[in-house]
Amino acid sequence: MKKRNRPITYPDPADDLAAWMDAVQTEDFPAFVELLVRIRKAIGFTPERILDFGYGWGISAAMWLTSFPEATVYCCDPLGQYKYGKTDPVSKLCPRCQERFTFVHCEAEMVLPCLKRTFDFIFVDADHEYPSTLVQIGLAWDRLEPGGVMSGHDWDMPDVRRAVTEFAKVNELVIREVSGDHGAWLVRKAGDVEKKQQELKG
Ligand SMILES: C[S@@+](CC[C@H](N)C(=O)[O-])C[C@H]1O[C@@H](n2cnc3c(N)ncnc32)[C@H](O)[C@@H]1O
Repeated sequence: MKKRNRPITYPDPADDLAAWMDAVQTEDFPAFVELLVRIRKAIGFTPERILDFGYGWGISAAMWLTSFPEATVYCCDPLGQYKYGKTDPVSKLCPRCQERFTFVHCEAEMVLPCLKRTFDFIFVDADHEYPSTLVQIGLAWDRLEPGGVMSGHDWDMPDVRRAVTEFAKVNELVIREVSGDHGAWLVRKAGDVEKKQQELKG
């Protein structure tokens, strides 16, 4: 049987932002990292299967990989993993995190309908346009487990706000706003995520 790497611990950015950024070797977007910490707190449980798109610089993916050492993180981005070059912290976290990390060089709209796996936390930070965001969050919602949380960046962007608000209205969801760095939105699917996690563990 293949041996799984022992989880390694990183400084908690909630306690020491600079130490986390130093540990994952990035200088990018401290305000965004602080927002991610607030989103992490708002999730309210420990996710085990995470979907994160678009990947971009890999800052949010690095946050989930280091914050949830038992979780798998699945990412996609049509520009590829190394578009933003040397700053990509996940490439530095791997190979230690390799077994927990999957990257697909593809648009979310293309990959989501083909996925069989489900997620308990989904983070959306892609092209931020109204029609595509509406499609992306609808497809992602279908892959979200009961009790799971879906969140996204740039709540201050009118197109994002319109898409998320319409989606929430149709699905009778309460939108929670998370403040800082252009803001974030967060919605929760009805159900008991811990029960679902136990079922999936079998
Ligand atoms: C603001 S960046 C994401 C930043 C990322 N969350 C981070 O922490 O570094 C937006 C990314 O979304 C990607 N993107 C654009 N359209 C997309 C789509 N349809 N599906 C997935 N990713 C997309 C872009 O290529 C870009 O890299």
